[in-house]
Parts: sequence; structure tokens; C-alpha cells
Amino acid sequence: MAPTKFAKIHTINGEASNEEQDNLSQDMKDLIFSLPREKGWRTPYLYLFQGFWCQPAEIQAISTFQNHFQAKDSDVFVATVPKSGTTWLKALTFATVNRQHHFISSKNHPLLSFNPHDLVPFIEYTVYGNHENLPNFSNFHEPRLFGTHVPFDSLSNSIKDSSNCKIVYICRNPFDTFISSWVFCNKIKQDSLPTLGLDEAFEMFCNGKIGYGPFWNHMLGYWKESQERPKRVLFLKYEDLKDDVNFELKKLAKFLNCPFTLEEESEGVIENIIKLCSFEKMKEFEINKIGKFGRNFENKYLFRKGEIGDWTNYLSPSMVENLSKVIEEKLSECGLKFKAKN
Ligand code: A3P
Repeated sequence: MAPTKFAKIHTINGEASNEEQDNLSQDMKDLIFSLPREKGWRTPYLYLFQGFWCQPAEIQAISTFQNHFQAKDSDVFVATVPKSGTTWLKALTFATVNRQHHFISSKNHPLLSFNPHDLVPFIEYTVYGNHENLPNFSNFHEPRLFGTHVPFDSLSNSIKDSSNCKIVYICRNPFDTFISSWVFCNKIKQDSLPTLGLDEAFEMFCNGKIGYGPFWNHMLGYWKESQERPKRVLFLKYEDLKDDVNFELKKLAKFLNCPFTLEEESEGVIENIIKLCSFEKMKEFEINKIGKFGRNFENKYLFRKGEIGDWTNYLSPSMVENLSKVIEEKLSECGLKFKAKN
């Protein structure tokens, strides 16, 4: 398939920023023009595309991905709700899957010089983020590792239906996800936008209006699939990893068909992976202190507190009541529950 070429022709609704429209094809602008839109968190607008909220450049990348991506049985996808432990799970997955080639205690381990988002690239930013050309996968080693925030139903058909690739999913209690998102988005928002206030952001979050939201649909899509096809989708929670990362890491390795051997266990490989990927260690790596993710933001913003329950420092009792109601209403039926405090 020939690479797609895009031209700047007209503005979306006459109001979206130039930055939002850069590199959008005319077809994409026409499509986006027709979608419902709401105020964004870090860009002027979010658009409702295939039932979830996202930005114009993401819609274009996701559409190209849906039209072109061919999954291989050996592929691994790290799928996440934003601000739910993506960076951590990518690091753990990379270190575990590649432990035969990249010894965990090596001074040259890739995690010491690359951010996990460079090692496990996002489908919708890195892999399909170049609007001039389709990706060249010849540089990818197998198993190929990818990251995505795209909801399950909007993954490419070859991932959902025709391949035996694996999907590892992580989400987090919505209270912490909200605070983490709010702080993060205000740090990386477009300079021209005012700071998004806590009350307004909270209202948007509870109404599902956040990137890749509503969060409950995101969780339910992967949850349902993990119940129906447990060999295809492993459903993890941030809080479980915090409580017992050793147990969760073994589960992950087994799911990815690379279980730890008794010998590895006794040699401390599991503990070494946990240590290498720990918040405290990763935060201090030079690449995570001074590096940047694409044009967009500094890696250091990916490492804030890494705790369960920081929301208690921000949310009023009525906010807690409101979000608890949303969680109860949207998620209780499927039995999905979260630990929200230590
Ligand atoms: P806080 O903002 O609550 O501190 P994501 O990687 O999906 O963007 O999620 C970011 C959240 O994960 C942030 O939470 C961040 O501090 C935390 N985090 C990043 N790396 C981590 C790690 N290695 N272990 C535990 N938490 C981590």
C-alpha cells in the first residue's frame, strides 16, 4: 500500500488550533469535522471517535492502524488506561520478554538508556504517528512489543480476530487515575491553554470526557475479553502490582509463554527485574530525568508519586461520593473492584 500524503486545506470547525490540524489529511478533517467535540484536557478539543474521546492526530493514527496493521501471533500489546501504570508495565514486560538477550543486571540494559515508551512504542503515537509514511516493521525484533491506549473494540481486526497475539492490560482505581491525569495534563498541556481546574476536570472525568474515555467502557471492553479469552487478554490492576509485584510478574511471564524457571527464581532474576523497573530506580535513570517523549513532554513527568491513595490529598467528600457512585453504577455489575487506599 502506498504511503499516505496529507495536505493542509481547511480548518476544523474554524476553531481548532493550527497545532491540532497539522498533518491531517482532508478526509480526516472532514471526518473530524463531523464528530461531536468537547473541551480537551491538554489540547483545545477532544472528539468522540468510535465511542471514545480523543485528539485529531490520534484519530488519524488510529484509523491508519485499523486499516493497515497486521498482527503476528507472537506480538504482545501492552494496553492501558492512560495514567494507570503504562510506563511500569511496559518496563516489566520488556525486561521479562527480553531477559535472554538483555541480562537484567547488565550495565547496558536498554532500560538504563531508553524510556519504556521508546522500547514498547505506542501504536497511536510512535508507530503510526508519522503521517507521511506507513511504519517499516523490518527493524522490529520478535516478539514485537507495542503499547496502546486504544479501547479493545477499536483495535485492528487482525489483533481482535485473526491472530493469537497477547494483550496485557492494566488499569487503576479511578480516584488515583483522575488525580494522576489532572496533574499530568496540566504539566504537558499546550502553552496557549489555561490551567484546567480540579473541579472542572473532575466533572469531565465523571462524565467520561477524557482521552480514551469513558474510563469504564475502556475497562469493561478489556475485562470482558479477558473473561472470554483468558489466554489472549491478561487483566491487571496497578494496586495488585503495588501489593505483590512478585506474584503479578510471575503471572505475566507465564501468560506471555516465558515463565521463570526454578533456576531463574533461585538466581534472583525476578527480584532483579522488579528492582530495575521499580519507581525509585526508574525515576533516577538519566534518560528519565532529562529525556523527552517525542516533541510532547519530558520523561520526568511520567514519574510523580507512584502511590495508592494520593487522591485523598485532593478530593472533597462530595467528589468522593460522586465518583464512587459512577464507579458503582458503571462497574459493579461486572464485579470489577479496586483498592483505593493503602
Ligand atoms: P502518579 O501520578 O499517581 O504518581 P502511566 O505510566 O500510565 O502514565 O501512569 C503514570 C503513573 O504511574 C504515575 O502515578 C506514576 O508516578 C506511576 N509510575 C510510573 N512509573 C512507575 C513505576 N515504575 N512503579 C510504580 N508506579 C509508577
